[in-house]
Amino acid sequence: MCGIVGYLGKKNIKEILLSGLKELEYRGYDSAGIAVLEDGNFSIYKAVGKLVNLEEKTKDYESHGFAVGIGHTRWATHGKPTELNAHPHLGESSYVVHNGIIENYAQLKKELQDKGVVFLSQTDTEVIVHQFEKNLKLLKNSFDAFSKTVGELQGAYAILLVTKSEPDTIFFAKQGSPMLIGVDEQNDSYFASSDTPLIGQCNSVNYFEDGDFGYVTPKKLMIFSANGTQRDAKFVPLSQNKLSAQKDGFRFFMEKEIYEQSSVISDTLMGRLSESEVIFEELNENLFYGISEIKFCACGTSYHSAMSAFYLFERYAKVKTSLEVASEFRYRNPIMSKDTLFVVISQSGETADTLETLKMAKKAGLKTLVICNVDNSSMVRLADAAILTRAGIEKGVASTKAFATQVTVFWMLSLYVAKIRNSLSGTDIANQIALLREVPKHTKVTEVLHEKMKRLSKRYLHGHGFFFIGRDIFYPLALEGALKLKEISYLHAEGYPAGEMKHGPIALADPELFTIALLPQHLHYEKTKSNVEELSARDSTICVISSEEFDKADDFVQISSCKHYMLEFYEMMIVVQLLSLEISVRLGNDVDMPRNLAKSVTVE
Ligand code: F6R
Repeated sequence: MCGIVGYLGKKNIKEILLSGLKELEYRGYDSAGIAVLEDGNFSIYKAVGKLVNLEEKTKDYESHGFAVGIGHTRWATHGKPTELNAHPHLGESSYVVHNGIIENYAQLKKELQDKGVVFLSQTDTEVIVHQFEKNLKLLKNSFDAFSKTVGELQGAYAILLVTKSEPDTIFFAKQGSPMLIGVDEQNDSYFASSDTPLIGQCNSVNYFEDGDFGYVTPKKLMIFSANGTQRDAKFVPLSQNKLSAQKDGFRFFMEKEIYEQSSVISDTLMGRLSESEVIFEELNENLFYGISEIKFCACGTSYHSAMSAFYLFERYAKVKTSLEVASEFRYRNPIMSKDTLFVVISQSGETADTLETLKMAKKAGLKTLVICNVDNSSMVRLADAAILTRAGIEKGVASTKAFATQVTVFWMLSLYVAKIRNSLSGTDIANQIALLREVPKHTKVTEVLHEKMKRLSKRYLHGHGFFFIGRDIFYPLALEGALKLKEISYLHAEGYPAGEMKHGPIALADPELFTIALLPQHLHYEKTKSNVEELSARDSTICVISSEEFDKADDFVQISSCKHYMLEFYEMMIVVQLLSLEISVRLGNDVDMPRNLAKSVTVE
């Protein structure tokens, strides 16, 4: 998502900040900006869209000697991608850049506004710089003001702040969002939110830990831990390979994205949950008035998340729902009635088939909503309303974190609609919200699980096919597990409703047929178990994924014991993603760029 850079020294600061931001482009962004403090004066440039626009704006600016500067690429979360919302954000005489989300920004903003502070942007970030300046007036010392400000923030952040009151200093803080510092031979300092901008500039770097804050000047680097004690920097050598730097030490983008799911889901949830209700500031409740059906339409993995929505909406929002494969829908002269809300789901927002169905629905006068990961994409621009999934840029062709965040949005949205339609009690909604908050915990990849999947994968490299089976909402997860496997392993795999196997596919059962059974404790456990036993009796090779021991399985992957079937859903999602990844690795395939596939399918 957003990217941060910073520099303190005598070199060409504009070039260093802009080239640093360029190295962070892969994270995705929709606006960018830099602020440079030289000889007591700030030079500020911001631009919406790609970095060329910022380069154009800064073309006449040159620094002349020592300067401090910060830069940022922004992926919109609070407020549209506009110049006013782009970072750096200004107080009276200080600028700040920030990655992450300040959860208590609304409360801090209100307090500041009550004291007469005027806000220019809709962002959560702007509170940081105003809070700092309020504290500076009070404490008369920049570092004390900065430490106090950091202590007042809740949420996730990587922050850089520069101020006229300390013109040779960059203040920094890190909690939950990545940030590192490098120092070169001339003792110039460089900050960034990942390794790539520092490659070629520094040979060693210090990765900040959560809770770290402090400052750097030409003479010293001071780092303090969350409890306020000073600690030494731990400089380590910096790899000089840019591609591997973008992968943050993971072997593949897909692997990195599987690991990222816990944190991107936190972003998906951030600011959208209160104790008692789901809040989508981007939606108007009117969208759901007069609606008697919700139709979901998508392709591929997004279609599978749409199918999970189909189960959630009927169960929680108690509204009639239907599901469409976009490439089928567009050519079958469908009946479209105006009391249907047409919802398209797309990671890219550019998939040709899905985009066409959205155009059809608009033409037929239906209300439309898009669930999408890319702001300003064609679908976001076209639909009446949009919810962004906030997964950050997804590079692996096999979609993982996009799916996880889509399902999360759907779970939230089903509760949002349930409230409007009065179909769940306040207590039920509050209980579900408490469960939603637990999703990041259940999507953390543990070393033990990953090692297990690495070992297990060697038993599943051949055979005449895989059946992923599950019931209810675990059926779309079975479909998604099978899709992941076939995409990157090139082995034949199908997702099937567990209860449907006996109506035909069970004829294939033999030891060379691999069944991956999703057996949640909290949803139709006994029923699914019987279906697995039917396959076991016919000597199919069975791998059960469950929290409950299952003695008829050849292999067993234990997930943690969860309070609710949706939490089991996420735990099993991680298992099937890792299984596909490790089978593909063992088969020597190109995990991130599987044969015949493209990331964004803009052809019919
Ligand atoms: C599978 C995958 C594809 C996409 C599909 C739709 O891993 O990524 O199946 O889900 O091409 O793409 P979007 O979601 O961008 O519309």
